[in-house]
Amino acid sequence: MKKILVTGANGQLGLSIKAVGKNYPSMIFTFTDVEDLDITNSKEVISFFENNKFDYCVNCAAYTAVDKAEEDVENAFSINATAVKNLSIACKNSNVVLIHVSTDFVFDGLKKTPYSEEDLPNPLSVYGSSKLKGEQFIQDILDSYFIVRTSWLYSEYGNNFVKTMLRLSETYKEINVVDDQIGSPTYAGDLAEFIISVISLESELYGVYHFSNEGNISWYDFAVEIFEKSQRQIKVNPIESTSYPTAAKRPAYSVLGTTKAKKLGQIKIKNWKESLSMFN
Ligand SMILES: NC(=O)c1ccc[n+]([C@@H]2O[C@H](COP(=O)([O-])OP(=O)(O)OC[C@H]3O[C@@H](n4cnc5c(N)ncnc54)[C@H](OP(=O)(O)O)[C@@H]3O)[C@@H](O)[C@H]2O)c1
Repeated sequence: MKKILVTGANGQLGLSIKAVGKNYPSMIFTFTDVEDLDITNSKEVISFFENNKFDYCVNCAAYTAVDKAEEDVENAFSINATAVKNLSIACKNSNVVLIHVSTDFVFDGLKKTPYSEEDLPNPLSVYGSSKLKGEQFIQDILDSYFIVRTSWLYSEYGNNFVKTMLRLSETYKEINVVDDQIGSPTYAGDLAEFIISVISLESELYGVYHFSNEGNISWYDFAVEIFEKSQRQIKVNPIESTSYPTAAKRPAYSVLGTTKAKKLGQIKIKNWKESLSMFN
């Protein structure tokens, strides 16, 4: 029996782990979100780990409002960096393996080929910088950790691009979507399966890993496929990012190379279209 703490469990990934975890009776999950365990509160985190025994902590808690973070810098760093330091110290003291989720936004997007785990991060936004700082705390404090960077996450839960597109199609006959940002969508259920496979294997190949669905596309391509799959009648116009200014700058290319993750989890990763086709 493995005991697993999931923090930020009411978010997209946390809820996906809850759903997938039901198929793994040998794993005992404790799901917490900010109201049960506020990971920015170091004393609360330390005492929670002292009073409960875990083998793994999967940190799904994050400040994910990318544009808002440009002004709300303190909160973004508190949740994405300082709180991760709190978890790292607690994991170290209690001998718990930390599985932490990070982002493609740690990269500047200047490459033209998939980013490997060895590529140097250079975030363009407050969100990306705060997530990178969280990664650095983990690497400074812990030996037994997995940092899993993912990209373009979507699920049945919370807010994400797929749900936004479907919502827009209820009101509009025509929309504009950027076609000059290239990345890989990731179905949170697939990421949840990967995280659980790492736990099942009790792997000690600690380090940084990249996980996304296979294939790379633009947001425009993704929108077109979402509407095709859901048979919505809406015209999608490709536009450049310069025509859709956002507070936070985003990488133009943030495809993650997943070779290392496939070896670690001993898995094949689904193509983005295949995963989207199973999304309800
Ligand atoms: N979404 C994406 O496209 C994307 C892309 C790449 C990487 N990621 C990374 O993937 C991970 C999961 O993302 P997600 O989309 O599942 O995020 P999410 O839906 O925003 O969920 C994050 C959860 O953390 C909770 N939380 C916030 N502050 C907390 C605190 N102080 N203590 C405990 N819980 C707290 C949030 O609660 P509230 O809602 O009440 O704030 C929310 O339930 C994150 O690390 C994110 O950076 C996401």
